[in-house]
Amino acid sequence: MNILVTGANGQLGNELKYLSQNFSTHQFFFTTSSNLDITNFASVENFFATNNIELCINTAAYTAVDKAEGEKEKAFLINSFAVENLAKVCAANRAKLIHISTDFVFDGTLARPLLESDSTNPINVYGASKLEGEKLALQQLPSSIIIRTSWVYSSFGNNFVKTILRLCNDKPQLNIIFDQIGTPTHARDLAAAIFHMANNDKFLAEKGIFNFSNEGVCSWYDFAIAIRDMANLSTPIFPIETHQYPTPAARPKFSVLNKSLFKQTFQYEIPYWRNSLQHCVLELN
Ligand SMILES: NC(=O)c1ccc[n+]([C@@H]2O[C@H](COP(=O)([O-])OP(=O)(O)OC[C@H]3O[C@@H](n4cnc5c(N)ncnc54)[C@H](OP(=O)(O)O)[C@@H]3O)[C@@H](O)[C@H]2O)c1
Repeated sequence: MNILVTGANGQLGNELKYLSQNFSTHQFFFTTSSNLDITNFASVENFFATNNIELCINTAAYTAVDKAEGEKEKAFLINSFAVENLAKVCAANRAKLIHISTDFVFDGTLARPLLESDSTNPINVYGASKLEGEKLALQQLPSSIIIRTSWVYSSFGNNFVKTILRLCNDKPQLNIIFDQIGTPTHARDLAAAIFHMANNDKFLAEKGIFNFSNEGVCSWYDFAIAIRDMANLSTPIFPIETHQYPTPAARPKFSVLNKSLFKQTFQYEIPYWRNSLQHCVLELN
């Protein structure tokens, strides 16, 4: 297959690039915002035609959750209308689309692991723009596969793991929110799951929304403690409530995803979050 991966400078894009070395039968095209701006319909159209793209994995996104509150138009341009562009062009070229979405499409009020079919109700601009992107992708190309994921980190890019490691070295103590519950996702595990899925016999017949994160559950506080301990640091970390750390964008209080559909459909075992975190922290050290 000829596979286009957008957002190749990002966390997931980099992990897909790293793992793509194991799939030499496919031809990969890794693009960034400078050589393929997904908001530019003509560029996307031209890229597909020139390179005979059969599968597009869209990891490109506007991911600055707090900044999005003041940049609504930009967030919707990249997270919604550019996704519509990709889906339209995929449809015209009979290509498959894998698009990445987020747990932030939920409001976080349901206190049990969320199913793909649960009602969405984003509580910030980023979540609303990602939800619109999902809808537009499925509208333009009903065979699209949407993967909702959460709390993504990697040794590439900026993320919570790197921030905590830096702050543990720079600050005498940290205060971290304990009343937002979810599951971290090592971008490498998500990349591996995407390749597993794309190489599965069922892949072309499957469509719609699938949840994916690592296994297990934690708060940001638990996550921070695990990062600190795995890096053999000893900075004191204290639990605080969400209202003690106000941010421009509201976040869901509970966004644990139920991954049964992905696991059963593609016969896949997902790593536990602590084991994956250990790998990432070792790599960073
Ligand atoms: N990070 C999380 O915690 C999290 C949680 C849930 C879901 N997700 C979703 O998972 C996916 C991957 O996230 P990530 O953490 O890997 O994101 P990331 O590290 O922020 O990377 C996103 C990439 O998108 C690219 N991009 C932005 N605008 C573009 C445009 N107009 N055309 C082409 N590329 C553009 C950026 O490229 P340049 O740098 O070249 O501008 C950036 O490298 C996204 O869909 C995100 O919404 C992320």
